[in-house]
Amino acid sequence: MADDSVDTRETSKGAEPVVTQKREVWSGRSVFIMAAIGSAVGLGNIWRFPYVAYENGGGAFLIPYLVALLTAGIPLLFVDYAMGHKFRGSPPLAFRRLARGSEFIGWWQVFVCFVIGVYYAVIVAWAACYTFFSLSEAWGDDPESFFLNDFLHMNSDATFGLDFVPGVSWPLLLVWVAVLGVLALGVQRGIGNANRIFVPLLVVLFGTLVIRALFLDGAVEGLNAFFTPNWDALTDTGVWIAAYAQIFFSLSVAFGIMLTYSSYLKKHTNLTGSGLVVGFSNSSFEVLAGIGVFSALGFMAQAQGVQVSEVVSGGIGLAFIAFPAIVSQMPGGPLFGVLFFASLVFAGFTSMISIIQVTLSAFEDKTGLGRVPAVLIIGGFSAIVSLLLFPTTTGLNTLDVVDRFANQFGIVGVAFVAVVVIAWVLRRLPELRDHLNSVSSFHVGTVWQVFVGVITPIVLGYMLFSEIRDRIREGYGGLPDSLVTTFGWGVQAAVLVLAIVMSFVPWRRDVDLGYEEDENRPDSVTVSIDKTDSREGTEPGGNL
Ligand code: ALA
Repeated sequence: MADDSVDTRETSKGAEPVVTQKREVWSGRSVFIMAAIGSAVGLGNIWRFPYVAYENGGGAFLIPYLVALLTAGIPLLFVDYAMGHKFRGSPPLAFRRLARGSEFIGWWQVFVCFVIGVYYAVIVAWAACYTFFSLSEAWGDDPESFFLNDFLHMNSDATFGLDFVPGVSWPLLLVWVAVLGVLALGVQRGIGNANRIFVPLLVVLFGTLVIRALFLDGAVEGLNAFFTPNWDALTDTGVWIAAYAQIFFSLSVAFGIMLTYSSYLKKHTNLTGSGLVVGFSNSSFEVLAGIGVFSALGFMAQAQGVQVSEVVSGGIGLAFIAFPAIVSQMPGGPLFGVLFFASLVFAGFTSMISIIQVTLSAFEDKTGLGRVPAVLIIGGFSAIVSLLLFPTTTGLNTLDVVDRFANQFGIVGVAFVAVVVIAWVLRRLPELRDHLNSVSSFHVGTVWQVFVGVITPIVLGYMLFSEIRDRIREGYGGLPDSLVTTFGWGVQAAVLVLAIVMSFVPWRRDVDLGYEEDENRPDSVTVSIDKTDSREGTEPGGNL
Protein backbone atom coordinates (compact mmCIF):
# COMPACT_ATOMS: atom_id res chain seq x y z
CA MET A 1 0.00 0.00 0.00
CA ALA A 2 1.38 3.38 -0.89
CA ASP A 3 0.31 5.06 2.28
CA ASP A 4 2.78 5.23 5.07
CA SER A 5 5.11 2.90 3.28
CA VAL A 6 8.51 3.11 4.75
CA ASP A 7 11.38 2.79 2.38
CA THR A 8 15.06 2.86 2.91
CA ARG A 9 17.56 4.48 0.62
CA GLU A 10 21.02 5.92 0.64
CA THR A 11 21.42 9.66 0.79
CA SER A 12 23.88 11.65 -1.24
CA LYS A 13 25.22 12.89 2.09
CA GLY A 14 26.51 9.61 3.27
CA ALA A 15 26.03 5.92 3.61
CA GLU A 16 23.53 6.21 6.45
CA PRO A 17 20.17 4.87 5.36
CA VAL A 18 17.29 7.31 5.30
CA VAL A 19 13.91 6.11 6.39
CA THR A 20 11.22 8.07 4.64
CA GLN A 21 7.53 8.06 5.19
CA LYS A 22 5.56 8.90 2.11
CA ARG A 23 2.29 10.73 2.03
CA GLU A 24 -0.06 9.27 -0.51
CA VAL A 25 -0.78 11.18 -3.70
CA TRP A 26 -3.65 11.21 -6.14
CA SER A 27 -2.49 9.84 -9.48
CA GLY A 28 -3.77 12.95 -11.24
CA ARG A 29 -5.89 16.04 -10.95
CA SER A 30 -8.94 14.39 -12.51
CA VAL A 31 -9.10 11.79 -9.73
CA PHE A 32 -8.89 14.52 -7.14
CA ILE A 33 -11.65 16.51 -8.84
CA MET A 34 -13.82 13.39 -9.09
CA ALA A 35 -13.28 12.62 -5.40
CA ALA A 36 -14.00 16.22 -4.42
CA ILE A 37 -17.23 16.19 -6.44
CA GLY A 38 -18.11 12.83 -4.90
CA SER A 39 -17.65 14.35 -1.48
CA ALA A 40 -19.62 17.50 -2.24
CA VAL A 41 -22.55 15.82 -3.95
CA GLY A 42 -24.26 13.99 -1.13
CA LEU A 43 -27.46 13.70 0.81
CA GLY A 44 -27.46 17.48 1.16
CA ASN A 45 -27.88 17.93 -2.60
CA ILE A 46 -30.66 15.47 -3.21
CA TRP A 47 -32.97 15.86 -0.27
CA ARG A 48 -31.93 19.04 1.45
CA PHE A 49 -31.51 21.56 -1.33
CA PRO A 50 -34.91 21.20 -3.03
CA TYR A 51 -36.78 21.73 0.20
CA VAL A 52 -34.57 24.53 1.52
CA ALA A 53 -34.89 26.35 -1.79
CA TYR A 54 -38.66 25.95 -1.86
CA GLU A 55 -39.08 27.11 1.71
CA ASN A 56 -36.88 30.14 1.22
CA GLY A 57 -38.38 31.93 -1.72
CA GLY A 58 -38.45 29.27 -4.48
CA GLY A 59 -36.87 30.70 -7.63
CA ALA A 60 -35.76 33.81 -5.74
CA PHE A 61 -33.63 31.59 -3.45
CA LEU A 62 -31.29 31.01 -6.36
CA ILE A 63 -30.00 34.58 -5.95
CA PRO A 64 -28.82 34.30 -2.31
CA TYR A 65 -27.66 30.79 -3.13
CA LEU A 66 -25.48 32.03 -5.97
CA VAL A 67 -24.22 34.94 -3.87
CA ALA A 68 -23.35 32.50 -1.05
CA LEU A 69 -21.55 30.23 -3.50
CA LEU A 70 -19.46 33.06 -4.93
CA THR A 71 -18.77 35.03 -1.75
CA ALA A 72 -18.25 32.20 0.73
CA GLY A 73 -18.44 28.70 -0.77
CA ILE A 74 -15.79 28.98 -3.47
CA PRO A 75 -13.53 31.43 -1.55
CA LEU A 76 -13.49 29.07 1.45
CA LEU A 77 -12.93 26.10 -0.82
CA PHE A 78 -9.79 27.91 -1.99
CA VAL A 79 -8.73 28.39 1.66
CA ASP A 80 -9.17 24.65 2.29
CA TYR A 81 -7.17 23.81 -0.83
CA ALA A 82 -4.41 26.28 0.04
CA MET A 83 -4.13 24.97 3.61
CA GLY A 84 -4.13 21.30 2.64
CA HIS A 85 -1.81 21.68 -0.33
CA LYS A 86 0.68 24.09 1.21
CA PHE A 87 0.97 22.37 4.58
CA ARG A 88 0.47 18.84 3.29
CA GLY A 89 -1.33 17.35 6.22
CA SER A 90 -4.59 16.39 7.80
CA PRO A 91 -6.43 19.33 9.42
CA PRO A 92 -4.57 19.15 12.77
CA LEU A 93 -1.18 18.89 11.09
CA ALA A 94 -1.97 21.63 8.58
CA PHE A 95 -3.15 24.00 11.32
CA ARG A 96 -0.19 23.02 13.51
CA ARG A 97 2.13 23.90 10.66
CA LEU A 98 0.25 27.16 10.15
CA ALA A 99 0.76 28.15 13.78
CA ARG A 100 1.36 26.25 16.98
CA GLY A 101 -1.73 27.50 18.79
CA SER A 102 -4.18 26.80 15.98
CA GLU A 103 -3.95 22.99 16.04
CA PHE A 104 -7.19 22.69 17.99
CA ILE A 105 -9.10 24.08 15.00
CA GLY A 106 -7.96 21.10 12.96
CA TRP A 107 -9.09 18.70 15.68
CA TRP A 108 -12.38 20.51 15.97
CA GLN A 109 -12.91 19.81 12.25
CA VAL A 110 -11.93 16.18 12.77
CA PHE A 111 -14.45 15.64 15.56
CA VAL A 112 -17.19 17.46 13.64
CA CYS A 113 -16.53 14.96 10.85
CA PHE A 114 -16.67 12.09 13.32
CA VAL A 115 -20.07 13.23 14.57
CA ILE A 116 -21.45 13.73 11.06
CA GLY A 117 -20.02 10.41 9.89
CA VAL A 118 -21.70 8.33 12.59
CA TYR A 119 -25.20 9.45 11.66
CA TYR A 120 -24.64 9.98 7.93
CA ALA A 121 -24.03 6.23 7.59
CA VAL A 122 -27.48 5.50 9.00
CA ILE A 123 -29.24 7.49 6.29
CA VAL A 124 -27.19 5.72 3.64
CA ALA A 125 -28.26 2.41 5.21
CA TRP A 126 -31.95 3.41 5.14
CA ALA A 127 -31.60 4.41 1.49
CA ALA A 128 -30.00 1.05 0.70
CA CYS A 129 -32.97 -0.75 2.31
CA TYR A 130 -35.43 1.42 0.40
CA THR A 131 -33.71 0.60 -2.88
CA PHE A 132 -34.86 -2.98 -2.29
CA PHE A 133 -38.22 -1.99 -0.81
CA SER A 134 -38.93 -0.08 -4.04
CA LEU A 135 -38.97 -3.28 -6.07
CA SER A 136 -42.05 -4.56 -4.26
CA GLU A 137 -43.34 -1.20 -3.00
CA ALA A 138 -43.02 -2.75 0.44
CA TRP A 139 -44.54 0.29 2.16
CA GLY A 140 -48.01 -0.57 0.83
CA ASP A 141 -50.50 2.27 0.95
CA ASP A 142 -49.16 4.02 4.04
CA PRO A 143 -45.48 4.97 3.56
CA GLU A 144 -45.40 7.08 6.73
CA SER A 145 -46.59 4.32 9.01
CA PHE A 146 -44.33 1.85 7.23
CA PHE A 147 -41.27 4.06 7.74
CA LEU A 148 -41.87 4.96 11.37
CA ASN A 149 -43.51 1.79 12.65
CA ASP A 150 -42.65 -1.17 10.45
CA PHE A 151 -39.15 -0.13 9.44
CA LEU A 152 -37.76 1.96 12.32
CA HIS A 153 -40.05 0.52 15.04
CA MET A 154 -40.06 4.02 16.44
CA ASN A 155 -40.92 4.33 20.10
CA SER A 156 -42.38 7.80 20.62
CA ASP A 157 -42.75 7.31 24.38
CA ALA A 158 -39.05 6.88 25.15
CA THR A 159 -36.45 9.66 24.89
CA PHE A 160 -33.45 7.42 24.50
CA GLY A 161 -32.87 3.71 24.69
CA LEU A 162 -30.77 0.84 23.39
CA ASP A 163 -33.59 -1.19 21.95
CA PHE A 164 -32.03 -2.30 18.67
CA VAL A 165 -33.84 -2.79 15.38
CA PRO A 166 -32.05 -5.58 13.47
CA GLY A 167 -33.59 -4.52 10.16
CA VAL A 168 -31.58 -1.29 10.41
CA SER A 169 -28.52 -2.58 12.33
CA TRP A 170 -27.48 -5.14 9.73
CA PRO A 171 -27.65 -2.81 6.71
CA LEU A 172 -25.81 -0.20 8.76
CA LEU A 173 -23.08 -2.70 9.54
CA LEU A 174 -22.77 -3.45 5.82
CA VAL A 175 -22.44 0.26 5.02
CA TRP A 176 -19.61 0.57 7.53
CA VAL A 177 -17.86 -2.53 6.17
CA ALA A 178 -18.08 -1.10 2.64
CA VAL A 179 -16.86 2.38 3.66
CA LEU A 180 -13.99 1.05 5.76
CA GLY A 181 -13.11 -1.48 3.07
CA VAL A 182 -12.66 1.32 0.53
CA LEU A 183 -10.68 3.42 3.00
CA ALA A 184 -8.40 0.49 3.85
CA LEU A 185 -7.34 0.38 0.21
CA GLY A 186 -5.86 3.85 0.49
CA VAL A 187 -6.28 7.23 -1.14
CA GLN A 188 -5.69 6.37 -4.78
CA ARG A 189 -6.65 2.69 -4.91
CA GLY A 190 -9.58 2.99 -2.55
CA ILE A 191 -11.04 6.50 -2.52
CA GLY A 192 -9.91 7.42 -6.04
CA ASN A 193 -11.21 4.28 -7.69
CA ALA A 194 -14.48 4.24 -5.74
CA ASN A 195 -15.21 7.78 -6.91
CA ARG A 196 -14.24 6.96 -10.46
CA ILE A 197 -16.96 4.32 -10.43
CA PHE A 198 -19.68 5.82 -8.25
CA VAL A 199 -19.69 9.46 -9.41
CA PRO A 200 -20.35 8.68 -13.10
CA LEU A 201 -22.86 6.02 -12.03
CA LEU A 202 -24.65 8.59 -9.89
CA VAL A 203 -24.79 11.06 -12.77
CA VAL A 204 -26.32 8.42 -15.07
CA LEU A 205 -28.86 7.18 -12.50
CA PHE A 206 -29.91 10.62 -11.34
CA GLY A 207 -29.94 12.04 -14.88
CA THR A 208 -32.29 9.22 -15.93
CA LEU A 209 -34.50 9.94 -12.93
CA VAL A 210 -34.73 13.66 -13.74
CA ILE A 211 -35.59 13.00 -17.39
CA ARG A 212 -38.30 10.52 -16.34
CA ALA A 213 -39.64 12.99 -13.77
CA LEU A 214 -39.88 15.77 -16.34
CA PHE A 215 -42.29 13.68 -18.41
CA LEU A 216 -44.67 12.98 -15.54
CA ASP A 217 -48.14 14.55 -15.58
CA GLY A 218 -48.09 17.58 -13.32
CA ALA A 219 -44.31 18.08 -13.60
CA VAL A 220 -44.84 21.61 -14.90
CA GLU A 221 -46.86 22.58 -11.82
CA GLY A 222 -44.08 21.25 -9.63
CA LEU A 223 -41.46 23.24 -11.53
CA ASN A 224 -43.64 26.35 -11.37
CA ALA A 225 -43.87 25.96 -7.60
CA PHE A 226 -40.11 25.50 -7.38
CA PHE A 227 -39.02 28.30 -9.66
CA THR A 228 -41.72 30.94 -9.13
CA PRO A 229 -39.84 33.61 -7.23
CA ASN A 230 -41.04 35.18 -4.06
CA TRP A 231 -39.01 38.36 -4.21
CA ASP A 232 -40.02 39.43 -0.70
CA ALA A 233 -37.91 36.56 0.58
CA LEU A 234 -34.79 38.49 -0.40
CA THR A 235 -35.37 40.96 2.42
CA ASP A 236 -35.50 38.16 5.00
CA THR A 237 -32.14 37.53 6.73
CA GLY A 238 -33.27 33.97 7.47
CA VAL A 239 -33.29 33.24 3.73
CA TRP A 240 -29.72 34.46 3.35
CA ILE A 241 -28.60 32.38 6.31
CA ALA A 242 -30.28 29.33 4.82
CA ALA A 243 -28.40 29.92 1.56
CA TYR A 244 -25.02 30.15 3.28
CA ALA A 245 -25.73 27.12 5.48
CA GLN A 246 -26.71 25.08 2.43
CA ILE A 247 -23.52 26.03 0.61
CA PHE A 248 -21.21 25.08 3.52
CA PHE A 249 -22.69 21.63 4.06
CA SER A 250 -23.20 20.90 0.43
CA LEU A 251 -19.74 21.92 -0.76
CA SER A 252 -18.09 20.09 2.18
CA VAL A 253 -16.11 23.25 2.97
CA ALA A 254 -14.59 24.39 6.24
CA PHE A 255 -14.88 21.12 8.11
CA GLY A 256 -11.69 19.46 7.03
CA ILE A 257 -12.73 17.39 4.05
CA MET A 258 -11.41 19.48 1.17
CA LEU A 259 -8.32 20.34 3.20
CA THR A 260 -7.59 16.63 3.67
CA TYR A 261 -8.23 15.74 0.02
CA SER A 262 -5.98 18.55 -1.25
CA SER A 263 -3.13 17.39 1.00
CA TYR A 264 -2.71 14.40 -1.34
CA LEU A 265 -2.17 16.57 -4.42
CA LYS A 266 1.11 16.79 -6.23
CA LYS A 267 3.13 19.98 -6.07
CA HIS A 268 2.04 21.46 -9.37
CA THR A 269 -1.70 21.34 -9.27
CA ASN A 270 -4.07 23.99 -10.49
CA LEU A 271 -5.91 24.54 -7.21
CA THR A 272 -8.32 27.35 -8.02
CA GLY A 273 -9.20 25.89 -11.43
CA SER A 274 -10.09 22.62 -9.71
CA GLY A 275 -12.11 24.48 -7.08
CA LEU A 276 -14.19 26.23 -9.73
CA VAL A 277 -14.96 22.92 -11.43
CA VAL A 278 -15.96 21.32 -8.11
CA GLY A 279 -18.04 24.31 -6.92
CA PHE A 280 -20.03 24.69 -10.11
CA SER A 281 -20.49 20.93 -10.60
CA ASN A 282 -21.89 20.62 -7.10
CA SER A 283 -24.33 23.49 -7.59
CA SER A 284 -25.41 22.22 -11.01
CA PHE A 285 -26.20 18.86 -9.46
CA GLU A 286 -28.13 20.61 -6.74
CA VAL A 287 -30.32 22.54 -9.16
CA LEU A 288 -30.82 19.33 -11.15
CA ALA A 289 -32.00 17.65 -7.95
CA GLY A 290 -34.47 20.50 -7.40
CA ILE A 291 -35.85 20.01 -10.90
CA GLY A 292 -36.19 16.24 -10.48
CA VAL A 293 -37.72 16.35 -7.02
CA PHE A 294 -40.22 19.10 -7.81
CA SER A 295 -41.32 17.47 -11.07
CA ALA A 296 -42.12 14.37 -9.02
CA LEU A 297 -43.88 16.38 -6.32
CA GLY A 298 -45.92 18.14 -9.03
CA PHE A 299 -47.03 14.73 -10.25
CA MET A 300 -48.08 13.70 -6.76
CA ALA A 301 -49.96 16.95 -6.16
CA GLN A 302 -51.87 16.50 -9.39
CA ALA A 303 -52.64 12.85 -8.63
CA GLN A 304 -54.05 13.85 -5.24
CA GLY A 305 -55.80 16.95 -6.56
CA VAL A 306 -54.00 19.28 -4.14
CA GLN A 307 -51.51 22.16 -4.34
CA VAL A 308 -47.81 21.35 -4.60
CA SER A 309 -47.25 23.18 -1.29
CA GLU A 310 -49.34 20.53 0.44
CA VAL A 311 -47.14 17.64 -0.64
CA VAL A 312 -43.76 19.27 -0.02
CA SER A 313 -41.78 17.94 2.90
CA GLY A 314 -38.11 18.12 3.72
CA GLY A 315 -35.26 15.84 4.69
CA ILE A 316 -36.22 12.47 5.98
CA GLY A 317 -39.91 13.03 5.23
CA LEU A 318 -39.20 13.88 1.61
CA ALA A 319 -37.01 10.88 0.90
CA PHE A 320 -38.63 8.15 2.97
CA ILE A 321 -42.27 9.18 3.03
CA ALA A 322 -43.11 11.46 0.07
CA PHE A 323 -41.00 9.61 -2.48
CA PRO A 324 -42.38 6.16 -1.67
CA ALA A 325 -45.88 7.64 -2.08
CA ILE A 326 -44.90 8.99 -5.50
CA VAL A 327 -43.43 5.62 -6.48
CA SER A 328 -46.70 3.90 -5.58
CA GLN A 329 -48.74 6.26 -7.70
CA MET A 330 -46.75 6.43 -10.90
CA PRO A 331 -46.48 4.02 -13.80
CA GLY A 332 -43.11 2.25 -13.64
CA GLY A 333 -42.85 3.28 -10.00
CA PRO A 334 -40.49 0.52 -8.78
CA LEU A 335 -37.83 1.49 -11.32
CA PHE A 336 -38.20 5.15 -10.37
CA GLY A 337 -37.82 4.21 -6.70
CA VAL A 338 -34.69 2.20 -7.40
CA LEU A 339 -33.19 5.13 -9.34
CA PHE A 340 -33.95 7.57 -6.55
CA PHE A 341 -32.77 5.50 -3.61
CA ALA A 342 -29.73 4.09 -5.41
CA SER A 343 -28.77 7.71 -6.23
CA LEU A 344 -29.03 8.56 -2.55
CA VAL A 345 -26.86 5.56 -1.68
CA PHE A 346 -24.12 6.42 -4.18
CA ALA A 347 -24.18 10.15 -3.40
CA GLY A 348 -24.11 9.43 0.34
CA PHE A 349 -21.45 6.73 0.07
CA THR A 350 -18.84 8.91 -1.66
CA SER A 351 -19.49 11.74 0.81
CA MET A 352 -19.28 9.35 3.74
CA ILE A 353 -15.87 8.11 2.56
CA SER A 354 -14.56 11.66 2.54
CA ILE A 355 -15.95 12.43 6.00
CA ILE A 356 -14.33 9.38 7.64
CA GLN A 357 -11.07 9.90 5.75
CA VAL A 358 -10.61 13.18 7.66
CA THR A 359 -10.60 11.32 10.99
CA LEU A 360 -8.27 8.58 9.75
CA SER A 361 -5.71 10.93 8.26
CA ALA A 362 -5.62 13.03 11.44
CA PHE A 363 -4.81 10.07 13.68
CA GLU A 364 -2.37 8.66 11.15
CA ASP A 365 -0.48 11.96 11.11
CA LYS A 366 -0.55 12.44 14.86
CA THR A 367 0.32 8.95 16.02
CA GLY A 368 2.04 7.35 13.05
CA LEU A 369 -0.64 4.68 12.80
CA GLY A 370 -0.60 2.88 9.45
CA ARG A 371 -3.64 3.02 7.25
CA VAL A 372 -5.08 -0.39 8.06
CA PRO A 373 -4.63 -0.06 11.83
CA ALA A 374 -6.22 3.42 11.58
CA VAL A 375 -9.17 1.97 9.69
CA LEU A 376 -9.56 -0.79 12.26
CA ILE A 377 -9.17 1.39 15.35
CA ILE A 378 -10.60 4.80 14.38
CA GLY A 379 -13.00 3.54 11.72
CA GLY A 380 -14.02 0.59 13.89
CA PHE A 381 -14.71 2.87 16.85
CA SER A 382 -16.84 5.18 14.67
CA ALA A 383 -18.81 2.19 13.42
CA ILE A 384 -19.45 0.96 16.96
CA VAL A 385 -20.71 4.37 18.09
CA SER A 386 -22.93 4.58 15.02
CA LEU A 387 -24.28 1.04 15.59
CA LEU A 388 -24.98 1.77 19.26
CA LEU A 389 -26.78 5.09 18.93
CA PHE A 390 -28.89 5.06 15.82
CA PRO A 391 -30.41 1.74 14.70
CA THR A 392 -32.65 1.78 17.76
CA THR A 393 -36.32 2.51 18.39
CA THR A 394 -35.33 6.01 19.54
CA GLY A 395 -32.59 6.57 16.94
CA LEU A 396 -34.60 8.87 14.68
CA ASN A 397 -34.91 11.70 17.20
CA THR A 398 -31.30 11.28 18.32
CA LEU A 399 -30.21 11.58 14.70
CA ASP A 400 -32.35 14.66 14.19
CA VAL A 401 -30.76 16.47 17.15
CA VAL A 402 -27.18 15.41 16.37
CA ASP A 403 -27.61 16.46 12.74
CA ARG A 404 -29.00 19.89 13.57
CA PHE A 405 -26.29 20.77 16.07
CA ALA A 406 -23.45 19.33 14.00
CA ASN A 407 -24.48 21.47 11.04
CA GLN A 408 -25.61 24.72 12.59
CA PHE A 409 -23.24 24.79 15.51
CA GLY A 410 -20.34 22.45 14.64
CA ILE A 411 -19.66 23.36 11.01
CA VAL A 412 -20.62 27.02 11.37
CA GLY A 413 -18.67 27.38 14.62
CA VAL A 414 -15.44 25.85 13.39
CA ALA A 415 -15.66 27.69 10.07
CA PHE A 416 -16.10 30.99 11.92
CA VAL A 417 -13.17 30.40 14.26
CA ALA A 418 -10.96 29.18 11.40
CA VAL A 419 -11.50 32.24 9.19
CA VAL A 420 -11.11 34.67 12.08
CA VAL A 421 -7.87 33.01 13.20
CA ILE A 422 -6.40 32.71 9.70
CA ALA A 423 -7.45 36.17 8.52
CA TRP A 424 -7.27 38.32 11.64
CA VAL A 425 -5.32 36.65 14.43
CA LEU A 426 -2.51 35.20 12.34
CA ARG A 427 -3.01 37.45 9.28
CA ARG A 428 -1.96 34.68 6.92
CA LEU A 429 -4.36 35.22 4.03
CA PRO A 430 -1.71 36.90 1.85
CA GLU A 431 0.51 33.84 2.28
CA LEU A 432 -2.31 31.49 1.29
CA ARG A 433 -3.18 33.76 -1.63
CA ASP A 434 0.42 33.62 -2.86
CA HIS A 435 0.42 29.87 -2.57
CA LEU A 436 -2.78 29.57 -4.60
CA ASN A 437 -1.47 31.94 -7.26
CA SER A 438 1.87 30.17 -7.50
CA VAL A 439 0.27 26.99 -8.79
CA SER A 440 -3.12 28.01 -10.20
CA SER A 441 -4.44 29.35 -13.48
CA PHE A 442 -7.18 31.51 -11.94
CA HIS A 443 -5.50 34.05 -9.69
CA VAL A 444 -7.07 35.41 -6.52
CA GLY A 445 -6.44 38.80 -4.97
CA THR A 446 -8.05 41.50 -2.87
CA VAL A 447 -11.62 40.48 -3.67
CA TRP A 448 -10.96 36.96 -2.42
CA GLN A 449 -9.36 38.32 0.73
CA VAL A 450 -12.37 40.54 1.39
CA PHE A 451 -14.78 37.63 0.91
CA VAL A 452 -12.81 35.35 3.23
CA GLY A 453 -11.68 37.92 5.76
CA VAL A 454 -14.73 40.19 5.99
CA ILE A 455 -17.95 38.85 4.45
CA THR A 456 -17.61 35.23 5.57
CA PRO A 457 -16.82 35.97 9.25
CA ILE A 458 -19.72 38.42 9.44
CA VAL A 459 -22.19 35.96 7.95
CA LEU A 460 -20.87 33.01 9.97
CA GLY A 461 -20.77 35.03 13.18
CA TYR A 462 -24.36 36.10 12.71
CA MET A 463 -25.44 32.54 11.89
CA LEU A 464 -23.75 31.23 15.00
CA PHE A 465 -25.17 33.92 17.23
CA SER A 466 -28.76 33.49 16.00
CA GLU A 467 -28.57 29.70 16.21
CA ILE A 468 -27.32 29.77 19.81
CA ARG A 469 -29.94 32.36 20.77
CA ASP A 470 -32.80 30.40 19.13
CA ARG A 471 -31.81 27.04 20.53
CA ILE A 472 -31.51 28.48 24.05
CA ARG A 473 -34.89 30.16 23.72
CA GLU A 474 -36.82 27.49 21.86
CA GLY A 475 -35.04 24.17 22.31
CA TYR A 476 -35.19 22.10 19.16
CA GLY A 477 -38.10 20.68 17.22
CA GLY A 478 -40.28 20.17 20.29
CA LEU A 479 -37.96 17.33 21.36
CA PRO A 480 -37.29 16.60 25.07
CA ASP A 481 -34.79 18.95 26.67
CA SER A 482 -32.72 16.06 27.98
CA LEU A 483 -32.21 14.79 24.43
CA VAL A 484 -31.29 18.25 23.11
CA THR A 485 -28.97 18.90 26.05
CA THR A 486 -27.15 15.58 25.75
CA PHE A 487 -26.95 15.01 22.00
CA GLY A 488 -27.03 18.65 20.94
CA TRP A 489 -25.17 20.90 23.36
CA GLY A 490 -23.40 18.03 25.13
CA VAL A 491 -21.95 16.46 22.00
CA GLN A 492 -20.81 19.81 20.60
CA ALA A 493 -19.20 20.79 23.91
CA ALA A 494 -17.45 17.41 24.06
CA VAL A 495 -16.17 17.94 20.52
CA LEU A 496 -14.64 21.26 21.48
CA VAL A 497 -13.08 19.96 24.70
CA LEU A 498 -11.65 16.91 22.95
CA ALA A 499 -10.23 19.12 20.21
CA ILE A 500 -8.39 21.22 22.77
CA VAL A 501 -7.16 18.14 24.65
CA MET A 502 -5.89 16.51 21.45
CA SER A 503 -3.95 19.62 20.56
CA PHE A 504 -1.89 19.10 23.74
CA VAL A 505 -1.13 15.44 23.01
CA PRO A 506 2.45 15.21 21.75
CA TRP A 507 3.06 14.45 18.08
CA ARG A 508 4.94 11.36 17.05
CA ARG A 509 8.58 12.27 17.18
CA ASP A 510 9.32 11.83 13.50
CA VAL A 511 6.82 14.31 12.12
CA ASP A 512 8.11 17.62 10.84
CA LEU A 513 5.96 20.27 12.47
CA GLY A 514 7.66 23.21 10.84
CA TYR A 515 7.02 24.38 7.35
CA GLU A 516 9.59 25.62 4.97
CA GLU A 517 8.97 26.44 1.35
CA ASP A 518 11.22 24.07 -0.53
CA GLU A 519 11.90 24.98 -4.12
CA ASN A 520 13.16 21.47 -4.75
CA ARG A 521 10.12 19.79 -3.27
CA PRO A 522 9.38 16.77 -5.41
CA ASP A 523 6.09 16.30 -7.11
CA SER A 524 5.31 13.50 -4.74
CA VAL A 525 5.51 14.35 -1.11
CA THR A 526 8.03 12.61 1.02
CA VAL A 527 8.18 13.52 4.67
CA SER A 528 11.52 12.52 6.01
CA ILE A 529 11.91 10.95 9.38
CA ASP A 530 15.64 11.12 9.16
CA LYS A 531 17.58 14.07 10.49
CA THR A 532 20.10 14.13 7.65
CA ASP A 533 17.80 14.97 4.79
CA SER A 534 14.37 16.42 4.95
CA ARG A 535 12.97 15.68 1.51
CA GLU A 536 14.27 12.87 -0.57
CA GLY A 537 13.06 11.03 -3.60
CA THR A 538 10.82 11.85 -6.51
CA GLU A 539 8.05 9.89 -8.10
CA PRO A 540 7.08 10.16 -11.72
CA GLY A 541 4.05 12.30 -12.29
CA GLY A 542 4.87 15.60 -13.95
CA ASN A 543 3.04 18.84 -13.55
CA LEU A 544 -0.72 18.79 -13.61
N1 ALA B 1 -21.38 17.59 1.07
C1 ALA B 1 -22.03 16.47 1.58
C2 ALA B 1 -23.49 16.50 1.36
O1 ALA B 1 -24.00 17.35 0.67
C3 ALA B 1 -21.69 16.29 3.02
O2 ALA B 1 -24.19 15.68 1.83
